[in-house]
Amino acid sequence: MTLEGKVVLVTGGARRIGRSIALALAAEGAKVAIHYGCSEAEARQTADECGGAPLFRANLESIPEIRAMFDQVATHFGTLDALVNNAARFTQFDPLTIEEADWDHIHSVNLKATFFCAQAAARIMLSREGGHIVNISSLGGLRPWARHAHYCASKAGVIMLTKALAKAWAPHIAVNSVAPGVIPFDKSDARIERLIKATPARREGTGEEVAEAVLFFLKSTRFTTGQLVAVDGGLSQL
Ligand SMILES: NC(=O)c1ccc[n+]([C@@H]2O[C@H](COP(=O)([O-])OP(=O)(O)OC[C@H]3O[C@@H](n4cnc5c(N)ncnc54)[C@H](OP(=O)(O)O)[C@@H]3O)[C@@H](O)[C@H]2O)c1
Repeated sequence: MTLEGKVVLVTGGARRIGRSIALALAAEGAKVAIHYGCSEAEARQTADECGGAPLFRANLESIPEIRAMFDQVATHFGTLDALVNNAARFTQFDPLTIEEADWDHIHSVNLKATFFCAQAAARIMLSREGGHIVNISSLGGLRPWARHAHYCASKAGVIMLTKALAKAWAPHIAVNSVAPGVIPFDKSDARIERLIKATPARREGTGEEVAEAVLFFLKSTRFTTGQLVAVDGGLSQL
């Protein structure tokens, strides 16, 4: 299947992995819609490099803002063929000290917004020719990390959400997940170094490698659904 001319919305598409996904989609000829929250300058840069892609701002903690964004995308393009649910948050807490607000900070975006973006996308797709959704989960949704229990739970939720929505919306919408391993963009620290050392591939991954897996799902027929690909150098196999 070709992505030429397909309309694909990437949440958190301004920077880091989301930017790599947006650029890879544009290189395949897709019409990319780039969502951003705060990173307007980076979003403009990515949009320029995607050949003048339109930008859509929304605070994903707000369901009305999510719904307004999908209305804007549908109005702009007249359709939506695919959604890449990439936006997320990452924090570290001792589970004994985490407070309700810290928990909600993660779950409101990682799990709740992922669901409501998928719902808004599905409402458009089901009124047309169907489509594809790829949810970016995490190695942390597959393996337990003691100081990231709240984050791991949110990403394990994304993995189960992927399977449940694949069942709910088959055969019209394929819903799959990509679980990145260690994909650093900032200065390295002891935790990252430890994880890289434990990775069978003996190196970190790149945004381009995550994008490769996203493209695999988006270019597949909808017969491939409810599946997960870990882009983690084999780390989840240990
Ligand atoms: N990097 C890794 O090593 C790694 C490993 C495993 C999984 N992942 C997953 O891969 C995906 C991308 O990760 P990343 O490290 O590239 O980026 P990231 O820093 O985790 O976040 C991606 C984007 O999410 C957006 N976002 C967060 N909260 C938002 C909100 N309330 N409203 C609107 N936008 C919001 C931000 O957009 P703005 O900047 O525009 O506000 C941010 O740039 C995430 O799902 C992450 O969990 C990453």
